[in-house]
Amino acid sequence: MDGWKPSSQIAVMFELKPLDLADKAAAYAELEKQLRVLLLGERDFIANCANTAALIWCSLPDLNWAGVYRLVENELVLGPFQGKPACVRIKLGKGVCGTAVATRQTVLVPNVHEFPGHIACDSASNSEIVVPLVKDGQLLGVLDLDSPKLDRFDSVDQAGLERLAAVLVAGSA
Ligand code: SME
Repeated sequence: MDGWKPSSQIAVMFELKPLDLADKAAAYAELEKQLRVLLLGERDFIANCANTAALIWCSLPDLNWAGVYRLVENELVLGPFQGKPACVRIKLGKGVCGTAVATRQTVLVPNVHEFPGHIACDSASNSEIVVPLVKDGQLLGVLDLDSPKLDRFDSVDQAGLERLAAVLVAGSA
């Protein structure tokens, strides 16, 4: 795989750069391949969330936050992420993240200022996408991406991120 330099059995070292989104579907297909390699041999959910967030952060342009909230005792709790410090706990049904949990559907928000109840962790955020993480029918949390650009995410991002979410949960215990 381009840019990947396996350095030992237990670690991989690789060079990451923002993907060319001219062909966005192809870029997500490449990212999905990279994520599969990155998670190979590791089942720990938190570790895999950390590497998923880091891979997305390094590869997708125009993000100001990328990470996971885990469902813990009926509440979302901040998990591994890249970006500025964020709010730690989100009640189910609240904000974009809590809405994605309540509906178990991806929530795509072109303009967060028009989303009733949006929780602003970083004033730079203008658009957002939240993908539920579901394994065997059980909701584990959400994958959340924020962008300073309005209308940053579209249906191709949604499909691509849902594939990445599927790889993350399938690769984790
Ligand atoms: N904006 C989210 C809160 C989490 S931050 O974006 C990291 C929401 O409304 O649920």
